[in-house]
Amino acid sequence: MKFFTRKLMSVVIAASFCFGLASCSKTPAESSAASSTEATTTVAESKASESSASSEESKAAVKTVTEGKLIMATNATFPPYEYHEKDQIIGIDAEIAKAIADKLGLELVIEDVAFDSIIAGVQSGKYDIGCAGMTVTEDRLKSVNFSTSYATGIQSIIVKEGSEIKTVDDLIKGKYKVGVQSGTTGDIYMADTDGGVGEDRVDRYNNGNDAVVALLAGKIDAICIDNEPAKAFVAANKGLKILETPFTEEKYAIAISKDNEELLTAINKALEELTADGTIGKIIEKYIPTK
Ligand code: ARG
Repeated sequence: MKFFTRKLMSVVIAASFCFGLASCSKTPAESSAASSTEATTTVAESKASESSASSEESKAAVKTVTEGKLIMATNATFPPYEYHEKDQIIGIDAEIAKAIADKLGLELVIEDVAFDSIIAGVQSGKYDIGCAGMTVTEDRLKSVNFSTSYATGIQSIIVKEGSEIKTVDDLIKGKYKVGVQSGTTGDIYMADTDGGVGEDRVDRYNNGNDAVVALLAGKIDAICIDNEPAKAFVAANKGLKILETPFTEEKYAIAISKDNEELLTAINKALEELTADGTIGKIIEKYIPTK
């Protein structure tokens, strides 16, 4: 518990000070590993378009990597935020980004890349935005700006049914191996010796599903991942469950280059309008129904 609570504080502090601010830190950008960036480019479905009448005002030309386009980097292995369905990438992030792009008069282009390459790609000007159920952290704020938050997430632990791991404390105090998606907050928290399980007991995977396969095969004892994908993985695979421990809340936001403050402002304005007119709420409710 201690671990999650403390981590939460730093995330929240970063979030409350930095949302919408152009630059929260002058620290030189740290370079996140730009590992395998095998990319499929998909243009998102226009499911959200009916609900996002573009206001002429917010269409005032913002500069983007490619004129007329909004290039979004994501990692589409994270249901219900982004995942593949047939040849489309769908989910909460895909629809919110589409609604934002519509408001800005831009065509949304989604690139599916390794999660741990997104920040570096946004920072280097390869992508306009990173939209991937991405948690705002102090460390990431050194490299990119974040929009206002549009959703929250909670770190969850998945174990096999019948596992002797009953709580996060059992996991931390034991000798168990934990699977994570490389470069995620679950990875960062778990690899920490102070509060996590430490580097030696963390196994990194390209995506949550690979970690699930490893868990089912008995190669690892648990997975630390955000709660909504955790629920989706447990629903899709027999014999898994989520530990019922109250965890920390994280804030999801869109990463934008520090060199493009206009885009940050435009996206925050669009998010504000899309929140006020109920579009964001509807998109989230569609993928995470509360009734
Ligand atoms: N919220 C976590 C983070 O920011 C995990 C995000 C993983 N997203 C994904 N699309 N695979 O680190």
